[in-house]
Amino acid sequence: MLKEHIENDEIIRIISHNDADGISAAAVIANALKEENAQFHTTIVPRLKEDVINQLRHEQHDLFIFSDMGSSFVKELNTFKSDVIIADHHQVDGTEADSNLVHVNPHLFEIDGSKDLSGAGSAYLCVRDLDKKHFAYFALVGAFGDMQGQDGFNGVNKLILEDAKETNLEINEDLKIVSKASEPLFKSLAYTFTPPLPGISGDLEGSTAFLEKIGLSYGIKFTDLADEEKDVLTAELIKINPDIYGDCYLIPKEIPMLKDLEEYAYILDACGKNKKFGLALSIALGEREKALSTATELQRKYRDQIVKGLEWVKREGAVQLNSSQYLYSEDKVLKSVMGTIASIGLSVELIDSSKPVLGLSRLHNDIKISGRTTRDMVERGVDLGKALRDSSNNFGGQGGGHDIAAGAMIPYESKDNFLHLFDEMIEYQLNND
Ligand code: C5P
Ligand code: C5P
Ligand code: ZN
Repeated sequence: MLKEHIENDEIIRIISHNDADGISAAAVIANALKEENAQFHTTIVPRLKEDVINQLRHEQHDLFIFSDMGSSFVKELNTFKSDVIIADHHQVDGTEADSNLVHVNPHLFEIDGSKDLSGAGSAYLCVRDLDKKHFAYFALVGAFGDMQGQDGFNGVNKLILEDAKETNLEINEDLKIVSKASEPLFKSLAYTFTPPLPGISGDLEGSTAFLEKIGLSYGIKFTDLADEEKDVLTAELIKINPDIYGDCYLIPKEIPMLKDLEEYAYILDACGKNKKFGLALSIALGEREKALSTATELQRKYRDQIVKGLEWVKREGAVQLNSSQYLYSEDKVLKSVMGTIASIGLSVELIDSSKPVLGLSRLHNDIKISGRTTRDMVERGVDLGKALRDSSNNFGGQGGGHDIAAGAMIPYESKDNFLHLFDEMIEYQLNND
């Protein structure tokens, strides 16, 4: 379908999600189309809503591509007069696609979209056979964005990894700390969240104290350390978390800042969280210098906010319900990082990982919710996507996502009743698995 529309020289309409995975998904398609000299128009949105779909319906395009979103709108997209491709990996609702619609989603093939294929991966599969294996690495960037690569790749991601290795990817064992060449060491360590370094991740003072204890200067960049110093640091960090030394996925021809695919994802994430979607997309389409220095500034600001958020969690703790727990804030800074600090809070064990956590933030008359849990809890029966979809629907809200990470929007006045219902649903999931 895609090939036909490219050959007809139409303007292809791409709609994608605003996080690192969604931006990577748009990037893989846009880069492929660019290389085919095809025309395209991309829009990045925080989430697909009926009004967005109805607006698009009136645009004169022959092909719409929805990536990292769309699977819960098959019913609406079936009614489009034009062709539609959905390349998603979120949970599906069972609606069959009509003949104008191609629905690419791992869940349709009993493949787990929360860990084995990202939105960018689904998007990559749509362009792969146009001789685009050299863009496979974007699918891996997206997977990192959705936390699917941090412990190695599995499932379809692993097959995509083979495509990347065949074309332009190298895997090297190395220390997995961030911004080795651009930040002083104490920041590189404090901003490393995957794998978590207890007492160091998210804690600038803890990080400085650790470096002083092992006799290294905290202000120097990792890349400026002498080899013996690097060895000392590596040995000491391995004592804290052995996973800190392991496979790094690199594109050798990329500039240092974007060489490591995991760090590439974090840059896109920082742009996305600051609502600079155009900037993120332009970087993924090859813009450098000025775009990257702006992105670095945004990343500094974002990391600062994450650290403040984690300090807040440390101070306040999560409010405990029977089977779940939640964070709530009306603070502007905290609101923008609620999902991120819920994820990191769990992994660095500032938040009890034996209960799912909801991060709630107030947006006028609504509450935005980010739910996160662990793989262990999912194996015990927890499905946050389902719980958030069902509990928010009950109060006229909307929600969904994955078993391990999901979100919702509900009216402010139903906050307490919603929390109660959600908690009961989790309890039910745990008792009936
Ligand atoms: O919409 P999308 O699938 O791209 O978003 C998933 C979100 O869930 C991302 O923000 C990702 O970082 C988060 N996530 C998480 N922990 C996981 C898996 C995903 O925080 N284990
Ligand atoms: O916003 P957040 O990063 O917490 O979203 C986590 C996951 O839940 C994402 O995959 C997102 O697409 C999904 N979500 C949803 N409906 C919402 C909010 C989030 O399906 N109202
Ligand atoms: Zn995704």
